[in-house]
Amino acid sequence: MSVQTPQKRITVPEIRAHKGGKPVVMLTCYHAHTAKLLDNHVDMMLVGDTLGMVIHGMETTLGVTVEMMILHGQAVMRGAKRALVVVDMPFGSYEESPEIAFRNASRILKETGCQAVKLEGGARMAETISYLSKRGIPVMGHIGMTPQNVQILGGFKTQGRTEAEWPALEADAKAVADAGAFAVVLEAMAEPLAARITGQIDIPTIGIGASPACDGQVLVMEDMLGLNPNPPKFVREYAQLGPAIEAAVQAYARDVRERHFPGLENVYPMKKAQ
Ligand code: KIV
Repeated sequence: MSVQTPQKRITVPEIRAHKGGKPVVMLTCYHAHTAKLLDNHVDMMLVGDTLGMVIHGMETTLGVTVEMMILHGQAVMRGAKRALVVVDMPFGSYEESPEIAFRNASRILKETGCQAVKLEGGARMAETISYLSKRGIPVMGHIGMTPQNVQILGGFKTQGRTEAEWPALEADAKAVADAGAFAVVLEAMAEPLAARITGQIDIPTIGIGASPACDGQVLVMEDMLGLNPNPPKFVREYAQLGPAIEAAVQAYARDVRERHFPGLENVYPMKKAQ
């Protein structure tokens, strides 16, 4: 009888230890099957609230609920045995007070089994990040272009294009790190600023559209697989699954319409005409 040793999962301190060293590889993931495919190749998976747009066809992430995050978090946890899984806290679930944030974050951790949560906001969220971290909830920060703030920002726009914007964003990064976050996403940020921030704080910076100057990178998996007809400009597509799926569906539809099922004759042998 063979005894299987359970897969060891990557831990929060192991991610922190990447600072200034081997880059952290992260992708978003929303389902069990893809989680299995990613598991041996990424350090972290993010069950991002982008699932509202990517999976559910919403215009923004604002309509995503804690229940949706839990459902997709559970699915990803069924497939991910090695990578550290971070689940996003959706809009409205953490901004009001540290206590409400703790209630929702602890529910996400308990009901999904994930290892950490992510929330958006810099200095303004520092008190909450500290409250959660001190009570056993690992938090990943997210600054720069914060999509839950899209109405205030006036669109999904690159941050820190002018030097005048830098001090506030640098203060955000420092506040998140000082509050106890174990890593921070820098989204849509000009390279010189991302490089400065990466040099100024002692936790890994994970860039998305924020240049190679960061300690790691995250992308929305569907964007890098070529499933998004309008991906953000910074995305490199590593496959063209959108056109591949369309071609496969066309071939299947043609086979059905022409009653042409190669291989099926072996499963249901035709009676020879007497
Ligand atoms: O929700 C998400 O997918 C994210 C990434 C874009 C970083 O926050």
